[in-house]
Amino acid sequence: MKRINRLIVPAAVVLFFAVPTLAAAKDVVLKEPPPSLAKLYPPESAEPKWIQQMHKMSGHFGGIFIDMGEKDFENVDKHADGLAEAYEETSKLVPEWKDYFDVKAAKDFAAAARTHDMEAIKKASGALGKTCGKCHDENQVAVWTRFHWPAVGKIKITDPVDEKELDFGKYMKLLSNSFKAANVNFGEGQYDRALKGLDGFRKRYMELKSTCAKCHTMPEVKLFFVGEGVEKAMDGMKAELMAEKPNPGKYFKNVGIVGQQGCKMCHLTHRSYAIIQEIWEEKEEAKK
Ligand code: HEC
Ligand code: HEC
Ligand code: HEC
Repeated sequence: MKRINRLIVPAAVVLFFAVPTLAAAKDVVLKEPPPSLAKLYPPESAEPKWIQQMHKMSGHFGGIFIDMGEKDFENVDKHADGLAEAYEETSKLVPEWKDYFDVKAAKDFAAAARTHDMEAIKKASGALGKTCGKCHDENQVAVWTRFHWPAVGKIKITDPVDEKELDFGKYMKLLSNSFKAANVNFGEGQYDRALKGLDGFRKRYMELKSTCAKCHTMPEVKLFFVGEGVEKAMDGMKAELMAEKPNPGKYFKNVGIVGQQGCKMCHLTHRSYAIIQEIWEEKEEAKK
């Protein structure tokens, strides 16, 4: 009884505190970045101008605190002017985003910095910092997805079984079907068909290695998802199919390893961005 009580009390406390938090939970909306931002990123701009502007602001912002700590007031003043100037400049770059900026807050912060009074500086920095944070919370992931994540949709793979060239997404469907062909036939006791399915599946799966270099420069990434662990599990599947009395427990344990260490982990790493890009693209298509 004592033990049960000990379990119940903390659970009740958690619930009590969790309810108000849940009520205040916010949805995250991933809006496609505004069209005019594209002018500040390659290929439209030779330099990633938006990021350079961020570094400028962040350098001055941090510089004020570092130089305050060193009592280097001359440079505190320089950074104060630099920040207010860079902030105002940035606020004009993307018209769709102008409401995120509070140029007065930047000027107030610069004025506070010039007093060299740490308390006043901290207070004014909070108001300005909030404007940075709000835009980051709402836009940073969208910008990464749009301007940093390479589009998988442009990649083609030649199917080693049919020797046809396919889009990545279509290839995935084929891969998924040949995985099923092996496993469904195993379940039905049709081991010859399962073996044929498995051979095709393995060739198709390992052919994925030919795509890594389209986005990665380090060959070491191939230790993951398409590495030894998955290959060994495929050996295990085959060994079971060749056995006199195939053991379903052993076969499906290896299927699980391929599914988890291969498909699932690769999807968790790569697919979220691809899914978002695809939705934005569909929206564009619909507009046309
Ligand atoms: C209107 C939106 C917006 C505002 C306001 C804004 N930022 Fe940003 N910031 C972004 C976006 C979008 C990124 C992601 C850029 C990227 O990775 O391409 C970013 C990235 C950054 C980065 C990381 C740069 C990198 O190399 O990855 C820093 C540092 C930064 N911002 C500092 C600031 C500071 C300091 C302020 C306020 C004084 C600020 N930002 C205000 C939108 C904003
Ligand atoms: C469409 C482009 C694309 C393809 C194709 C691709 N990746 Fe990635 N992958 C990325 C990006 C972008 C990241 C995020 C970090 C980065 O840039 O390395 C990433 C991250 C990773 C990571 C996490 C560690 C790291 O380096 O960031 C691994 C591991 C990985 N990929 C393995 C692979 C393997 C193995 C293949 C081929 C079977 C592959 N990737 C194919 C774009 C791709
Ligand atoms: C190298 C990483 C990687 C591996 C390994 C991988 N996938 Fe994928 N998969 C992707 C990416 C990236 C997409 C998104 C493709 C797109 O949106 O065009 C995808 C998409 C898919 C889709 C959706 C296709 C569509 O367009 O509707 C299916 C189904 C799928 N994968 C199944 C599998 C199965 C089953 C396995 C394992 C046997 C597997 N994948 C292994 C990266 C991988």
